[in-house]
Amino acid sequence: MARRDVEDLHLRGLTKQFGDVVAVDHLDLTIPAGSFFALLGASGCGKTTTLRMIAGLEDPSGGTIHIGPRDVTSLRAFERPVNTVFQSYALFPHLDIFENIAFGLRRRKVKDVTAPVEAMLELATQAQSTVRRSAAARGLGSRVDQRARCAPPR
Ligand SMILES: Nc1ncnc2c1ncn2[C@@H]1O[C@H](COP(=O)(O)OP(=O)(O)O)[C@@H](O)[C@H]1O
Ligand SMILES: [Mg+2]
Repeated sequence: MARRDVEDLHLRGLTKQFGDVVAVDHLDLTIPAGSFFALLGASGCGKTTTLRMIAGLEDPSGGTIHIGPRDVTSLRAFERPVNTVFQSYALFPHLDIFENIAFGLRRRKVKDVTAPVEAMLELATQAQSTVRRSAAARGLGSRVDQRARCAPPR
């Protein structure tokens, strides 16, 4: 399901070395626009480092990152159309859930945030109940609220 306002992400030869440790080794990957993509692998195989390079939080030692035709490899984190949800501390504790979700929209000077925030709350609530139903038996939690905050404005 591709949206017209998003573009494929292309990693080409993406590499990151920390001293002698090669954390990511010439990774070639295309992630199609609009797709839900999961990186799976053993602890230490380079997942977080890859995500940090895509977000601009880590400089690659080699290779390129393109979003559509645009080379973003050297752009700073805030210049990239990339959002990151960290595993913890992803909500602003001084803001309520509505304002956490509205945060990105307000930063982008969206005039009326009510409708998109309510749509995202609705989606998060649906997703959370689905996740709860499927995860409850296994004792897993969900971070749907945190993810909702990083959803791109439409
Ligand atoms: N800042 C860092 N300095 C040195 N080594 C690092 C750093 N970050 C990650 N590494 C190393 O890079 C490798 C990949 O780590 P990481 O990307 O965190 O893996 P994953 O997220 O798949 O568990 C590991 O060997 C890790 O110890
Ligand atoms: Mg990790």
